[in-house]
Amino acid sequence: MPTLLTRIGELTTNVATPGDPSGTRTDAAVLVDDGRIVWLGTSHEATARTADLANLEVVDAAGRAVIPGFVDSHSHLVFAGDRAAEFEARMAGRPYTAGGIRSTVAATRAASDEELRERLRALRDELLVQGTTTVEIKSGYGLSVPDEERLVRLAAEVTPEVTFLGAHVVPPEYADRADDYVDLVAGPMLDACAPHARWIDVFCETGAFTVEQSRRVLEAGIARGLGVRVHASQLGRGDGVRLAVELGAASIDHGTYLSDDDVTALAGSDTVLTLLPGVEFSTRQPYPDARPLLDAGVTVALACDTNPGSSFTSSMPFCIAVAVRDMGMTPAEAVWAATAGGARALRRDDIGVLTPGARADLVLLDAPSRVHLAYRPGVPLVRRVWKDGVAVG
Ligand code: NIG
Ligand code: FE
Repeated sequence: MPTLLTRIGELTTNVATPGDPSGTRTDAAVLVDDGRIVWLGTSHEATARTADLANLEVVDAAGRAVIPGFVDSHSHLVFAGDRAAEFEARMAGRPYTAGGIRSTVAATRAASDEELRERLRALRDELLVQGTTTVEIKSGYGLSVPDEERLVRLAAEVTPEVTFLGAHVVPPEYADRADDYVDLVAGPMLDACAPHARWIDVFCETGAFTVEQSRRVLEAGIARGLGVRVHASQLGRGDGVRLAVELGAASIDHGTYLSDDDVTALAGSDTVLTLLPGVEFSTRQPYPDARPLLDAGVTVALACDTNPGSSFTSSMPFCIAVAVRDMGMTPAEAVWAATAGGARALRRDDIGVLTPGARADLVLLDAPSRVHLAYRPGVPLVRRVWKDGVAVG
């Protein structure tokens, strides 16, 4: 059944016009059919355009804002267990370390497929009602061949954007044998996981994997046809960004500590920098300053990094608010980064943008403009969500 959203006070299309990367329209209307956007125009034009359409559902936005569905290009949604105590200790001054990942690995290995599936679906639904219509999901809490295989298999049940992250940390049974673990990841584990995945990722950081180990894993993934993503520069400066750019990664994620050379390399590349404000919030690290990055020409995405350790938020509006308040982004830049930026980070041109032919993934805000996402932090402004043209909930 076709749906017309009309009397939209502010429509963010992300189809850039001179001076406006957000492609903003006012008093706009959007016609949706068969899961796609079929037409955009003014509310006035919509009346004539839809006059002869049977079974048309009309949604009167009454001056409210509409944006593309959020594209959350970084999450770890398949896990078991809880690390609230670790968060509580951090808030009392204990630092975040990569080692906490191993406690989630133990809980995840002990959970059944059905338990993991139920938690995963609940989280996916939690994201959806908050306006996230596309989510990337990583493995990385299994760290054995059968456990990683089931995590990517379960993730593939809910999203096409599945990332194999066998190189998340070295599991306890490979302590002091990290290179043997890298052999496993780049060999039998990749063989088992590649059929379910679109991407490969590595945590290239002190306490996780070296640049050389990361390169081996990523090159093995590339040879299997997977696209590259890299976790890097989360806890300190390193060479992960350089490696990501050299390998043509779609995205390098975190980037909390970047050198000038990193910024230059990113600005001259097709690699998106995905900033994850929930991590700095939840680990009490300094927020990265996005202003010089944007001014240098780096393409920036925003994502939640939903995971039980470093960032257990699933709210893209929260990330937008923090990016605006503490990371030097304008509201328009932050909303672009959370929609079109995420789509770039996934190398997708059918999402994050509202134009004829694009997927009908839309969010109706209970607000007259996208600025309210930062202006009214913590307020549930997502009034209605459509994914592939179908209203959620
Ligand atoms: O993206 N950086 C590595 N991985 C996750 C953290 C996972 C955890 O602490 O459980 C991240 O922050
Ligand atoms: Fe992550």
